[in-house]
Amino acid sequence: MKKLLSVAAATALVASMAMAKEVKIGVVLPLTGPIAAFGQTSNDGLKIAYAQHHKLSNGDPVKLIVLDDRGDKVEAATATKRLIDENHVTAILGEVASSNSMAMAPIAEKSKTPMITHASTNPRVTMGKKFVTRACFIDPFQGAVAANYVYSKGLKTAVIVTDATQDYSVGLSKAFRKAYTKDGGKILGTVLINSGDKDFNAQVSTIKSLHPQIIDFTGYYPEAALFVRQARAVGVKAPFIGGDGSGFPQLIKIGGKAVEGYMYTDHFNEAAAKSAVAKAYVKAYHAKYHRTADSMGALAADAYNMILSAMNKCIAEGKAPTNKICVNTNLRHTKNFQGVTGVININKQGNAVKSAVINVVRNGKFAYLATVNPKK
Ligand code: PHE
Repeated sequence: MKKLLSVAAATALVASMAMAKEVKIGVVLPLTGPIAAFGQTSNDGLKIAYAQHHKLSNGDPVKLIVLDDRGDKVEAATATKRLIDENHVTAILGEVASSNSMAMAPIAEKSKTPMITHASTNPRVTMGKKFVTRACFIDPFQGAVAANYVYSKGLKTAVIVTDATQDYSVGLSKAFRKAYTKDGGKILGTVLINSGDKDFNAQVSTIKSLHPQIIDFTGYYPEAALFVRQARAVGVKAPFIGGDGSGFPQLIKIGGKAVEGYMYTDHFNEAAAKSAVAKAYVKAYHAKYHRTADSMGALAADAYNMILSAMNKCIAEGKAPTNKICVNTNLRHTKNFQGVTGVININKQGNAVKSAVINVVRNGKFAYLATVNPKK
């Protein structure tokens, strides 16, 4: 009898294995290159989320195919094509930098493959696209949060630092300018930098002569760290506020004492995370990596779980979880999703409407300052 049962159990197992169909999700990240920290931290968060959930409601296993684009637009586009044409993925997660996501989006759109970027905040990433969604807020919101915050603290004149090579930085600068001048603030000037620059002597000297009360830095962390250092070295005393792209551990590692007081808008701070979903994620993250859970990993986890949730809805509707149109429709209709980074609602444009946090560098660490909710 015992033997018979085990034969039956083994047969059932084989049958269910034959029925379970692997569902592939492609991931495009800058795992190497100048912004490798963006890709690495995304991937770390993704691993936590994957360990927590890697089977769909019907038992189908999920497979992640992660490709490195080295932070390059052309490579991001090539990786996207490969995932669609060769790997036949059902959905794509990525990229981080808006410029790279913008290189991927038309390809996803053309092949009707649902794409979700966890971290790209430039409005143009999703604009006019039916198959591109994001798990993060957009820069007009982030820029306004920063502008309103510093203005409310009595800092009424600003200089903006824009990285002319990044769509993210150009868009965020525009958003800050708009909200800050609407508040009544005055923009004294804008100085331009390029990704990869190391010498900012000309720009920091210009800022020194303008005497702003606040400096809005809209680029990424590698340039932010050096820029602030060089500004302090020539005697610029005004505080800095940046966006999500600048608040990385490397900012403190390279910036040292110069970046004390550096404020920036971000998606998540574990100190402010109260939900059960966020707590479970943070606990697993600490256990695996023995460090603070950052916003980038949390966003990647949310984007991944949003894809799984959309696939599970397809199953509940009697459709295949590999049905790209169905997955996309459900992704675009994500409502009240309990994410690690907060409650996520996707609007008609495919953008997430959600809260932002403001952090500051204090005693060599990122400290939490405030949470700002979107207007209803
Ligand atoms: N928001 C940035 C962009 O769109 C990417 C980013 C997000 C970087 C979050 C760091 C943290 O380019």
